[in-house]
Amino acid sequence: MERQIPFVESLRRASALNRTRTVLALDIEDNDRLALIQRCKRVLSDVGDKICAVKINRQLVLALGLNGGVDLIVDFAHSLSLPAIMDAKLNDVAHTNVSMTRAYLRCGFDAVIASPIVGWEEGLDSVFELMNHAGKSIILLVHMSNPGSDNFYSLRVGESKAPIFEHFAELALRWKAHGVVVGATKLNVISRVREIVGDAVQIYSPGVGVQGGDGRRAITAGANYVIVGRSIYASPDPSKSARKIRFETMEK
Ligand code: XMP
Repeated sequence: MERQIPFVESLRRASALNRTRTVLALDIEDNDRLALIQRCKRVLSDVGDKICAVKINRQLVLALGLNGGVDLIVDFAHSLSLPAIMDAKLNDVAHTNVSMTRAYLRCGFDAVIASPIVGWEEGLDSVFELMNHAGKSIILLVHMSNPGSDNFYSLRVGESKAPIFEHFAELALRWKAHGVVVGATKLNVISRVREIVGDAVQIYSPGVGVQGGDGRRAITAGANYVIVGRSIYASPDPSKSARKIRFETMEK
């Protein structure tokens, strides 16, 4: 993939070409570094034509490092014309957020996930500036899929006493984030976030399969993309599983 294509464009192309809304969460573990790299590449080879992006977590960065490790996987995804999202969940003050984001950009990532909880000024302001300048994208964590996430993300705050996730969705709109993450297990939340952001922000839904979320229902509720990990890479036949999820989520 040409490196200079903006994330939004490479995602759109891969989604159209592969007729899919599936983002693969590549959370494979292996104590052997080389085996881990090979396994990641093998799964990507198997399912690359059934997904539209790959998402990498910090656990893979810890296992492999960015240079001579995760960058090899990002390059491999690019060779399959797939953009790569770094699930950094950035949530620190600006200068360290920027430092981490620069490292992810040098590694070749096309988008990063950040937490809106740190706010704009001296929080995510410089990250947005950096990513926008580079033609890359930011996805904000708006509500999670695990049962305990309601304790915080559904907490009612402010004068309006609206759930905090609604404030986060409004921030995504105001800050012109490319996307938001909302768990696939929270269909009402997906619909409410869609009402708030309209068509301006893409909704990514993880928690499909192993956690009980249903990809088809998440899309019907308003999600644009599903994020799927174990149901694909841990399946005895990753290609078949990716095909099944593609079928379920492309029918609307
Ligand atoms: P599985 O194996 O459950 O992996 O398909 C889900 C991936 O999505 C990331 N992620 C989340 N997962 N709820 C989730 O279930 C969330 O709110 C969420 N946010 C991100 C997770 O890290 C894994 O890579």
